[in-house]
Amino acid sequence: MDNRPIGVMDSGLGGLSVIRIMREQLPHESIVFVGDQGHFPYGVRTQEDVCHLALNIGKYLLTHDIKMMVIACNTATAASLPTLQKELPIPVIGVIKPGATAALEQPKHDRIGVTATEGTIKAGAYPKTIHELNPDVTVIAKAAQPMVSIVEHNEVGTPKAQQVVNEQLGIFKDKHVDVLILGCTHFPFLSKEISNLLPDVTLVDPALETVKTARQMLTDTDQLHDHETTHTMKLYSTGDFKELQVGAEKWLPGDRFTCEHVNIPGD
Ligand code: DGL
Repeated sequence: MDNRPIGVMDSGLGGLSVIRIMREQLPHESIVFVGDQGHFPYGVRTQEDVCHLALNIGKYLLTHDIKMMVIACNTATAASLPTLQKELPIPVIGVIKPGATAALEQPKHDRIGVTATEGTIKAGAYPKTIHELNPDVTVIAKAAQPMVSIVEHNEVGTPKAQQVVNEQLGIFKDKHVDVLILGCTHFPFLSKEISNLLPDVTLVDPALETVKTARQMLTDTDQLHDHETTHTMKLYSTGDFKELQVGAEKWLPGDRFTCEHVNIPGD
């Protein structure tokens, strides 16, 4: 038993798509989350830059005495996972291998689509990881950076959201895929719009497999939170915490949390 919190980070609101699954699957765990809105968006930054930002956040999360860190950001996972695993004295997991694994576990997965930020697509992170696990599948990757801002600025459910999804993912109407990995934590919040466009495609949210991995690791090391002690959820934004608060009220309905601004150096 280990009642220390799990640390989670993302460039912004997207991390809430991972936290909502954590709340479902690991309801007794305490969570400390940093949304790096002060340096958003990550998808157009260099790998070095994103790695540096993620490492600073990891070090900040350590000040909360976390027992594990989840990089709930595909762009940051692609840019920094090995570095954070080396530099931080706690287990660190990312979302890309779980996302790839989940796609390959779907009954039909010969043609796998991936949509993510420019940075994740440029890094080739998903095709590389998927082909390490199964070299025989076809992977079609498409960056969809404009979809990130739709979620970040709380425009999900608007006609504009559907229009941007249609523009960004229309390619998958011509190039058929069996499954589509939502390889950016912001995108699961656009599942409805994406399914409207691609009704026959199975959408894969890497969050489910990521949380399964975290739970397995905590179980193996006997580090799950006990069931009696109250858990807490602390949300921090390096930018405008009000946007994170509005997002959390929308995407984590009924959950109790605190939400504050925090300064974490970007350089
Ligand atoms: N939500 C992040 C991801 O999973 C990055 C979005 C961005 O900041 O560009 O990749």
